[in-house]
Amino acid sequence: MLTRMLTSIAAAALMATAVFADNPAPAAPKTADASPIYGVTIPEGYRDWKVISVAQLRGKANQLRVQLGNDIAIKAMREGTRPFPDGAMIAAIHWTNDENAENDKVFESVNFPFQSSTAGKPVNVQFMVKDSKKYPDSAGWGFADFKDGKPQSEELHQACFSCHAPAADKDYVFTEYAKTP
Ligand code: HEC
Repeated sequence: MLTRMLTSIAAAALMATAVFADNPAPAAPKTADASPIYGVTIPEGYRDWKVISVAQLRGKANQLRVQLGNDIAIKAMREGTRPFPDGAMIAAIHWTNDENAENDKVFESVNFPFQSSTAGKPVNVQFMVKDSKKYPDSAGWGFADFKDGKPQSEELHQACFSCHAPAADKDYVFTEYAKTP
């Protein structure tokens, strides 16, 4: 009896596999991967956007941060266009700021009085996405914060826009375009 039951369970599992192979399950609904409140998903290809600037966070946390912009954001940055036009997107990638002993050894070996620290573990990535029709209550910006590829809490997202208010005269973006050497 047990054997027969197990056989039929196995058969059912096989059938299920066959069905899935023919009709791959649809990708997980987008909403699960979207930020709370704003519904922003991770923009494709953001890792290839251009550099706006870099920053270091010190104090309770010690992080290295880079701010990147898509082409629309970069154009607005370079030309000083404010408010940013719809379609502008800004990413901020945050890493731990790790001392780099390997680099230090190189400097030491030639008596250069330098110490090196470099991007360590990824901490999170944040986005600001301009869509004035979709986000009229936050000056046209949609906000999103992802850790390990998953959106962070609603509570965290409640704080984004209000904390960016001091930069209202710069269309709520703190970072300025770093000068080219
Ligand atoms: C405590 C205040 C505070 C909160 C809360 C906050 N930010 Fe920011 N944010 C800043 C400051 C200050 C900067 C500039 C310094 C830096 O990059 O560390 C910044 C920078 C950014 C940048 C780079 C563009 C810019 O404005 O310079 C993005 C993108 C960003 N924040 C997204 C978010 C998102 C998304 C949230 C909510 C999940 C959020 N922020 C919450 C203060 C805040």
